[in-house]
Amino acid sequence: MSVIETRELRKTYGRIEALKGVSIRVEKGQIYGLLGQNGAGKTTLIKVLLGIVSKTDGEAGLLGHAAGDPAARRKVGYLPEDHQFPGYHTGYSLMDFYGALYGVPAADRRRKIPETLELVGIAGRMNSKIRTYSKGMKQRLGIAQALLHDPDLVILDEPTDGVDPLGRREIRELMQRLKDRGHTIFLNSHLLGEVELICDRVAILQQGKLVREGTIADLTRQKGRHEMAVAPGQQFPADAVMKLGYVVTPLPDRPDVFEVSMPDGQSIDPVVRLLLDKGLGLRHLVEKKQSLEEAFLATVEGAEPGVDKRPKGGRRVRQVGGRD
Ligand SMILES: Nc1ncnc2c1ncn2[C@@H]1O[C@H](COP(=O)(O)OP(=O)(O)OP(=O)(O)O)[C@@H](O)[C@H]1O
Ligand SMILES: [Mg+2]
Repeated sequence: MSVIETRELRKTYGRIEALKGVSIRVEKGQIYGLLGQNGAGKTTLIKVLLGIVSKTDGEAGLLGHAAGDPAARRKVGYLPEDHQFPGYHTGYSLMDFYGALYGVPAADRRRKIPETLELVGIAGRMNSKIRTYSKGMKQRLGIAQALLHDPDLVILDEPTDGVDPLGRREIRELMQRLKDRGHTIFLNSHLLGEVELICDRVAILQQGKLVREGTIADLTRQKGRHEMAVAPGQQFPADAVMKLGYVVTPLPDRPDVFEVSMPDGQSIDPVVRLLLDKGLGLRHLVEKKQSLEEAFLATVEGAEPGVDKRPKGGRRVRQVGGRD
């Protein structure tokens, strides 16, 4: 049973199509990242899963229940985007309030509240009013609130928004610990460097559509692209390599290094064999990778609907002032 499963999920707000048929699956114990530009539909997907807004069409399930089923909701911790906790609460009293809502018994709350606040690094301020907290402290409290009832699934909408770099690392480590204990984490984030460090799989939404999905390794691998160079003084046999069906281009900034790419995903081994057969010395061979940010930017640029990249005049036209 998947922890989260959606099939052809659609959500419209009046004339705005926020989700246009999204199918994803999140398995137990994964840290799963949902990426996309502002307005791509990330928060909407979370709200449909939690039953905060109703779906328009398609399927959405959570922990074996239909999205919005209270039985599933009890097993889920949720950090909303832009949460505004009442400033008159203290960190402790807010946790006590949410804990009671989630049905955590009073004795457990007394024990678990300081523990959970310790976990996110704000136990020392648990008796101060929330209105005296910094932005990052409020965010940490929000995460603690989502963890108090020991949920199977934790859904975090921008968990590290406003948190300083050290705190972001602490939150990453916390997520890793939760994962190690078998919890599943579903998060939204614009901080791709962080997502790359922590997530097992990611999905990229683009204007309500799923445009890519896979492991970080899948998304950052530049399929079949290698850099190669032979020993100094030797000539790279570009023509012979091209005859084998590869595309060969010298790097603009390092003409002795060649990018060898394999359009059909064939192996690089025949090229290595060719070099050795010719008595050449292979001095450099690396598979090219890109960062998640590069992969993301390449994806969302290529996937923009309604954008004709090569109009007749040859000038690139970008859609401006769209609903994003
Ligand atoms: N309550 C609402 N009523 C009308 N339109 C809405 C509502 N909530 C969201 N939308 C629209 O749905 C689309 C998706 O919004 P959503 O909040 O899901 O985006 P997001 O991916 O979370 O963006 P961000 O990164 O800015 O948080 C947007 O076009 C937004 O304007
Ligand atoms: Mg959002």
